[in-house]
Amino acid sequence: MKAADVKTIGILGAGRVGTALARRAIAAGYDVKIATSRPPAEIGLLVEIMVPGARAETAEAVIAGSDVVVLALPLSKYRNLRPALFAGKIVVDAMNYWAPTDGVMSEFEGDRASSEIIQDYLTDALIVRSFNHMGYHEIEEEARAAGHPDRRALAVAGDDAQARRVVAAFIDHLGFDPVDAGELAASRSFVTGTPIFGASLDQAEMTRVLQGTYERAY
Ligand SMILES: NC(=O)c1ccc[n+]([C@@H]2O[C@H](COP(=O)([O-])OP(=O)(O)OC[C@H]3O[C@@H](n4cnc5c(N)ncnc54)[C@H](OP(=O)(O)O)[C@@H]3O)[C@@H](O)[C@H]2O)c1
Repeated sequence: MKAADVKTIGILGAGRVGTALARRAIAAGYDVKIATSRPPAEIGLLVEIMVPGARAETAEAVIAGSDVVVLALPLSKYRNLRPALFAGKIVVDAMNYWAPTDGVMSEFEGDRASSEIIQDYLTDALIVRSFNHMGYHEIEEEARAAGHPDRRALAVAGDDAQARRVVAAFIDHLGFDPVDAGELAASRSFVTGTPIFGASLDQAEMTRVLQGTYERAY
């Protein structure tokens, strides 16, 4: 998949992050398909109201019919995802582990970033972590045209360099400056509780913080 070929974005989750990202993607010119754990007919009205222009479909159809799939569901539900459906797909993991809401999940209590565990689970997907370190409302509020002095940076980490490039181009089209953090393990630098989490940084600041954090973490 080349960045220029990305036309359709599939979003799993129609909550705060999923709908904000979907609206922003539609505004940026993408086709958007959305699924939750419920049948499309049950979420059709919600999608019509919250994300005009998006289509509610089954998870299978969303994953199969999208160039990039975004995981915007509670991390506690990840085992409901069916790994075989994601083989070869570029998958953006926007999920965070937050025990007070997710409940304590032993696999996420160690040093590895949650995205590394998601990559283990969705073995044949190309997982790229991003968007997780910003608030859902900022996806629309803080999007800016390329070159704008207030443009916010988003960190991008994943083990597949081409998948990172594709997601970086998507982020750029949405109105943010992507910063390549490198492999998925580097996403430990922007999980919950890190200096990057919730901070509005520009590209230069993000690059510096990522480099500093990365060196300290390893
Ligand atoms: N809120 C934020 O500001 C923020 C920022 C960055 C990252 N995040 C992360 O983004 C994720 C979503 O957060 P949120 O605040 O948007 O949550 P939310 O408002 O509670 O929405 C969660 C959505 O996930 C859907 N869902 C549940 N199980 C699913 C499944 N198996 N397949 C597909 N969809 C499923 C739910 O719909 P049904 O009940 O119909 O299935 C619901 O639409 C979380 O992992 C969170 O940590 C949140």
